[in-house]
Amino acid sequence: MSSDAATAQQELLASLRCPVCGRALSLVADSLECPSCHSAYPVVDGIPRFTGDQHLASFGRQWNKYEVAHADEDRATFQAKTGIALTDLHGLQVLDAGCGGGRYSKVCGEAGASVIGADHSAAVIKARQLCSHLPNTAFVQADLKHLPLEPQSFDFVFSIGVMHHDADTKSVFDAVAKLVKPGGRYSVWLYRRNQWWQEVINNALRRRTTRMAPEKLERWCEWGAWLGGLPVVNKTLNKLINFSAHPNRENRVCDTFDWYAPQYQYHHTVAELQSWFQAAGFDQIQVLPPEKEGTLYRWVYEQDLLIGSGVNVTGIRKN
Ligand SMILES: C[S@@+](CC[C@H](N)C(=O)[O-])C[C@H]1O[C@@H](n2cnc3c(N)ncnc32)[C@H](O)[C@@H]1O
Ligand SMILES: [Zn+2]
Repeated sequence: MSSDAATAQQELLASLRCPVCGRALSLVADSLECPSCHSAYPVVDGIPRFTGDQHLASFGRQWNKYEVAHADEDRATFQAKTGIALTDLHGLQVLDAGCGGGRYSKVCGEAGASVIGADHSAAVIKARQLCSHLPNTAFVQADLKHLPLEPQSFDFVFSIGVMHHDADTKSVFDAVAKLVKPGGRYSVWLYRRNQWWQEVINNALRRRTTRMAPEKLERWCEWGAWLGGLPVVNKTLNKLINFSAHPNRENRVCDTFDWYAPQYQYHHTVAELQSWFQAAGFDQIQVLPPEKEGTLYRWVYEQDLLIGSGVNVTGIRKN
């Protein structure tokens, strides 16, 4: 570990708070201990662990297994889904809420922000590896509803494709909103609710796939990735059954597994997400447009026909 990285790690450990009682934690050997309520949390492979994988284990598996980060694409997606330009990140304290394998933490770290990535699953191992050249990034394995972090301590908090995987999306939204400083920005991307008949088909499929052994589901996802590589089919059949049409095959397998494996997957409306921002004390609320352009694409998107597309809102915290 470089001396910059060691200093950053010390700063991270010093900034962490007990998720039970909020007191500062002390590092004793390889464990963070709370002097007040006596909770203790191990630091394993340089990552403080406040929780295990639990219902999100499929994410630990997929992010550690597949190589799906692509620098240019990730920078473009990050800007589209957060509404913030890379040039505005320098010097900001940033929280990547549900960082997965760390592709967007890397984007922010490379743009000069100080980043904490938090994820419930073992995906944090991959995130730390992906960002190992960035001493201004650090990771914790923690539940976003009980983060070991100081309230109102981040200039910018973003969460891309995360909160709908909890048993209660809104409780995650509200808990993470509390981390934003007054005047700070909060950007959230959630799955969009599709047409009722698409929701019925998807729920029926996922009732089966979420119970499959991961090895078996991955074999199905290989077929999905094959379909996703077929022209025409990958723009039509996927309005009925979701599979990824990403140009890279490994991304298609990973994205399709990402859709069918997680225990919880809720779909939301723009109005719902906007109302959460208002109720949590945000203004300058903006609905962000989808990343892709094109008249037909936009029409299909606005009819809620694109499975796996999002509702995407950003806002500024009032004082
Ligand atoms: C689809 S992945 C997205 C990862 C990353 N944002 C990206 O787009 O590459 C969703 C991630 O959210 C994490 N997650 C879901 N619910 C969470 C919670 N309550 N606390 C922390 N992480 C959570 C999962 O473990 C998973 O890695
Ligand atoms: Zn405590």
